[in-house]
Amino acid sequence: MCGIVGYAGARPALGIVLDGLRRLEYRGYDSAGVAVVHDGELLTEKKAGKLANLEKALSERSTVEPGSDLDGGAGIALGTTAIGHTRWATHGGPTDRNAHPHRAHDGRVAVIHNGIIENFAKLRAELERQGVEFVSDTDTECAAHLLAGELARLRAAGEPDGPHLLAAAMRQVCQRLEGAFTLLAVDAGIPGAVVGARRNSPLVVGRGVGENYLASDVSAFIEHTRDAVELGQDQVVLITADDIEITDFAGRPASGKDFHIGWDASAAEKGGYDYFMLKEIAEQPQAVADTLLGRLTESGEIALDEVRLTDQDLRDVDKIFIVACGTAYHSGMVAKYAIEHWTRIPCEVELASEFRYRDPVLDRSTLVVAISQSGETMDTLMALRHAKEQKARVLAICNTNGATIPRESDAVLYTHGGPEIAVASTKAFLTQLVACYLIGLHLAQVRGIKYADEVAAVVAQLQEMPEKLRRLLAGIEPVRELARELRNAPQVLFIGRHVGFPVALEGALKLKELAYMHAEGFAAGELKHGPIALIDQGTPVVCIVPSPAGRGVLHDKIVSNIQEIRARGARTIVIAEEGDRTVVPYADHLIPVPRTPTLLAPLVTTVPLQVLACEIAAARGHDVDQPRNLAKSVTVE
Ligand code: F6R
Repeated sequence: MCGIVGYAGARPALGIVLDGLRRLEYRGYDSAGVAVVHDGELLTEKKAGKLANLEKALSERSTVEPGSDLDGGAGIALGTTAIGHTRWATHGGPTDRNAHPHRAHDGRVAVIHNGIIENFAKLRAELERQGVEFVSDTDTECAAHLLAGELARLRAAGEPDGPHLLAAAMRQVCQRLEGAFTLLAVDAGIPGAVVGARRNSPLVVGRGVGENYLASDVSAFIEHTRDAVELGQDQVVLITADDIEITDFAGRPASGKDFHIGWDASAAEKGGYDYFMLKEIAEQPQAVADTLLGRLTESGEIALDEVRLTDQDLRDVDKIFIVACGTAYHSGMVAKYAIEHWTRIPCEVELASEFRYRDPVLDRSTLVVAISQSGETMDTLMALRHAKEQKARVLAICNTNGATIPRESDAVLYTHGGPEIAVASTKAFLTQLVACYLIGLHLAQVRGIKYADEVAAVVAQLQEMPEKLRRLLAGIEPVRELARELRNAPQVLFIGRHVGFPVALEGALKLKELAYMHAEGFAAGELKHGPIALIDQGTPVVCIVPSPAGRGVLHDKIVSNIQEIRARGARTIVIAEEGDRTVVPYADHLIPVPRTPTLLAPLVTTVPLQVLACEIAAARGHDVDQPRNLAKSVTVE
């Protein structure tokens, strides 16, 4: 959601900022814009739609000579200070007018913003009373006018002009804003400086040599530097070519946390695949292996990444809540089965967006596990904060180093899955599952329910998964063919039991978000209580069958359910363990998956569903990596 890039250095900034925006496209957006400071002028361009529209507008003006009546002419390509933005509309539709950057009334200041300024109506009314004319419907424009006003006031008070003035003015503005925001700003009169501010919205600094960067996430500047600085909440950061200065909103010096990015630019490229999603599906064996890497210590204990909890804290846990959204929520649903089975601690899974509104019973002995690929999902962050206010302990499972959710948690297990660019989660889901299993084992071990050898046995089963996934992916072509056959189906249903139920939900979610088709996932036993009425002649139903070697009763029950739907005309697509002959008579299409212990089975049964959704979407001509209306990182509630 909203991508933000800022650059201060010696090179022409426009190309650098546009490349950064391209790398942030995956976050989801509906308009884009840039502001460049050159020769004492503020040059801006912004367009609704994809980056190509912005680039076209920029290339048209590059043929115009500087000094012409077209705002700055070709000068926009020369400036060495710039900010750029991709917008996911909240206040005001996705139009040229509402796209960022927003200029202040003085024409000298430009601001870009991610988040929602909750008191914008009040601020706007106040500014309008002062005679400021608004040209957009956005909340962001308030921040631009306020910033210009503060700069004018400080200058009039005789404060020395320059980068520090910009930072001082930004601090004043931040103190007036309510809600969540990342803001970046430039002033035509202060060349070489970009100021940023953050509250509850992502912003990271890239440390270069003779140049520095600001961005929503590191992928925007990864091709230039792998040294980054994590900012805290309520901080203002000023970058120039040679300096990075951080303060809190009151102006007190503050520091960020330096970190080195463990992957390079090629990890964020398509690498020969048609879509990032296909690449990320193919990366799953490695991603699972990376999540597992080094998790079993020499003494046989499971290692998390950051632990600010004692073993006694974990022994005191008497209830677990897992909070997450979307795909991450489905991984939490699977985790519930494993955690309760291994630890015997009651475990509930909650949609993060609902959690705090129903006043859950939380105390010191409650462990809240927050699962988030991005680590910035606002619903999950707010659930986490609510849990902390009630004194619960919070453990995060996250793929993004230094993101807000892990930073505010008492313990963290990073999934180490590498960048996930496609909006639809694939490798994030599998690595979240692995992380959940590891946490279940860790809790069971700390509480003395599982011995080191029992833990090691499950870890060994997990370590077999990358190879099984490779084998599964090598034989996935028939799923692609099936997808092409199903492209015009009016609906697809998914059924499963036990851990197969969240897999069914995940399969349906993937299909809805990518192919824009009606798809629903059901607990197979629930069909007869209503949803079976949806089944018509030829309705495709994907059935997730557990291993016959596991809990026999589960397997037999779902085979009965398959017979029930087949008798009503369903076209059955059966995902079952290799060698399971019992399902053959009832399967119109059989998708075999490697033999896997029941609790770990979602690691293999989910993969054909990802491929199915991806291929159906592609066959229907949709943008697989950036489905309509969706954003990768959902930073508003
Ligand atoms: C679906 C998908 C979303 C995310 C959800 C949570 O494919 O990707 O449902 O899982 O928005 O995002 P994170 O994990 O970043 O908190």
